[in-house]
Amino acid sequence: MDYKGQHILSTKQFDRDGLLELFEEAKEMESGGGGLSGKLMATLFYEPSTRTRFSFESAMLRLGGGIISNADMVATSSHRKKESLEDTGKVVSQMVDVIVVRHPEEGSVAELVGKSDVPVINAGDGAGEHPTQGLLDLYTVWKEKGDLDGLTWGMVGDLKNGRVPHSQADLLKYFDVKFVYVSPPGLEMPEKYRAGNYSESNDLREVIGEMDVIAMTRVQSERFKNEEEYKKYAGSYVLDAGMMKGAKKDAMVLHPLPRVDEIAVEVDSDPRAKYFEQVKNGVFVRMALLAKVLKG
Ligand code: CP
Repeated sequence: MDYKGQHILSTKQFDRDGLLELFEEAKEMESGGGGLSGKLMATLFYEPSTRTRFSFESAMLRLGGGIISNADMVATSSHRKKESLEDTGKVVSQMVDVIVVRHPEEGSVAELVGKSDVPVINAGDGAGEHPTQGLLDLYTVWKEKGDLDGLTWGMVGDLKNGRVPHSQADLLKYFDVKFVYVSPPGLEMPEKYRAGNYSESNDLREVIGEMDVIAMTRVQSERFKNEEEYKKYAGSYVLDAGMMKGAKKDAMVLHPLPRVDEIAVEVDSDPRAKYFEQVKNGVFVRMALLAKVLKG
């Protein structure tokens, strides 16, 4: 697939061949990158982040490019003077070659794209999508298992508000995957993200043994009206060493992080825990994506 000059806003822009091509390129990036010397990336974050912003910036620097960054657009940009997202996109696009944006409202990254003269990459828009997290999640599993076809992929937690399960589901529809959705009542996977072959449960212990991938996600506190609403769901699932006894011997535990309490720290030493590996893989996937968007 040709991503040169494209905005990357949604998982819907990828297909099976495009994904596999990107994964091969990410694997090559693991042994070194380059080729974006003289290119500049701006990271505009209207919502907190540890991994995604650093990961994009690490990826661009490893490719030989440069970065300008604002980690708190809400407090320190002309957003405070009521500049529109469209104008911000237009203005920043005069200074850089690619823009990476995170925003708390679904659809807002697409709004910033409106008048941008350079590609914009969605780094998470509210409860909508987080395409590059989805890409790195699939890459982590593909790299270890050698394939995505034939897997049973469990998604556990706040499937309603979690943009990561949404992006995973959208990307996995190109593969022969069976989904097991596990969520508390009220936080089920929205209809529009449900893929063909799936089952649902509220009880992780009951279904964990079916899963090749146990993709955990936290209850998204920032998407609830108030603390009281959030507390109804907080702590719904805690994956601990005891529960891992019921998981397959070669299962993979994913989590986009940050975690709150949904994976006990004791699980970190279980070789099936892959969430820190995901962080490393994210840099290579973003290197591959930036190279594709800027060089073709
Ligand atoms: N996984 C992820 O998006 O983490 P951050 O919120 O820290 O970027």
